[in-house]
Amino acid sequence: MDRKLQVVPGGTSGMGLATAVALGKFGPVLVGGRNEKRLESALKTLKEAGVEAYGKQLDISDRESMKAFAEYAAGIAPIGNVVNAAAIDSGASELIWKINVQGTINVVEAFLPYLDHSCVVNYSSITGYFYQPSREELAVWSAPDAPDFFEKSFAIASSKELDERMKFQGPQFLAYIASKRFVIYYTQANALRFGRKNSQIFSVAPGSFDTPMLREISDPAAVARIEAGTAFGRLGAPEEMADFITCLLQPGHQYLTGCDLILDGGKSAMAFAKQYE
Ligand SMILES: NC(=O)c1ccc[n+]([C@@H]2O[C@H](COP(=O)([O-])OP(=O)(O)OC[C@H]3O[C@@H](n4cnc5c(N)ncnc54)[C@H](OP(=O)(O)O)[C@@H]3O)[C@@H](O)[C@H]2O)c1
Repeated sequence: MDRKLQVVPGGTSGMGLATAVALGKFGPVLVGGRNEKRLESALKTLKEAGVEAYGKQLDISDRESMKAFAEYAAGIAPIGNVVNAAAIDSGASELIWKINVQGTINVVEAFLPYLDHSCVVNYSSITGYFYQPSREELAVWSAPDAPDFFEKSFAIASSKELDERMKFQGPQFLAYIASKRFVIYYTQANALRFGRKNSQIFSVAPGSFDTPMLREISDPAAVARIEAGTAFGRLGAPEEMADFITCLLQPGHQYLTGCDLILDGGKSAMAFAKQYE
C-alpha cells in the first residue's frame, strides 16, 4: 500500500474528512467535494495533520466530473483505497437519488479501470436495513447501466411507504434509506468484478455519528432521542469510523469483500432485537 493514493470523495467534511486524515498514514490523500470553501478548509486540516494532501472540486452525480477526478487521481500515484463518503440526506428526493445512487455508481465506474490490488469502500447506513427492495426493484438494480435505470429505480423507491420507525425524519427520508439500501446491494453485486481485478469492495454502515449531516437535521431533542437509542447513550465520533475503516484496510484483511459492515454503537441491535434486562 506504500505511496499508493488514498482517495476520498466527500472527504471535505464529517466522517469523510476524518477518514482522509486517518488514511494519510498509508500515502498521499486526494479529497473531493462540491463546495470550494469546504474543500480549501479540508486541505488545510489535512496539511496541518501532516498529510500529503491534494484536492479537486467534484460532483459525484456528474459522470464527467467524476471521470476527470479519477484521471486527476491516477496522475498523482497508483490508486490504493477509494473511500466514498459523499452523500446527502436532505433536500429534493430526486437529488438524493442522483447523488447517493447514481453518484455511487459513477465513483465505482470511474475508478474501476485504475484498480489493481486496490479497495473501494462505500459509506452505506444502517437506515438501509429499514428498507426492503421488492423483487421488481432488485431486477432494476441488477442492471445499473440500463438507459432507464435512474428513472425506473427512482420511481419504484418513491412509490413505497417509509418504515414506521423512520417516520419522525420526514417523507424525503424514504429516498435516503432506499438509496443506502441500494449502496449495500450495489457493493455486494460488484464483488466478482472487483475480485477479477485482485481488488476488494465493501461498505460501512454508520449508525449515528456527530457530523454536520446529523447536526443539520436534528434538534437537541432529536439528538437526545438518537443517543438514547444506542447501547452507550451517545453518538459516534467521526474518528471512530475513520479508525474502523483504516484498521480494515491494513494488510491481512484481503479476504474481506462484497459485504456491509456495521459500526453503530448497538443502534441496529436495539432496533431489531428486544434487549435483555
Ligand atoms: N452522520 C451520520 O450519522 C451518518 C449515518 C449513516 C450514514 N452516514 C453516511 O456517512 C457518509 C458521511 O456522512 P457525514 O455525516 O460525514 O456527512 P457530511 O458531514 O455532510 O459530509 C458529506 C460530504 O459529502 C460531500 N458531498 C455531498 N454531495 C456530494 C457530491 N454530489 N459530490 C461530491 N461530494 C459530495 C460533502 O461536500 P459538499 O457538500 O461540499 O459536496 C461532504 O464533504 C455519508 O454517506 C452518509 O450518508 C452518516
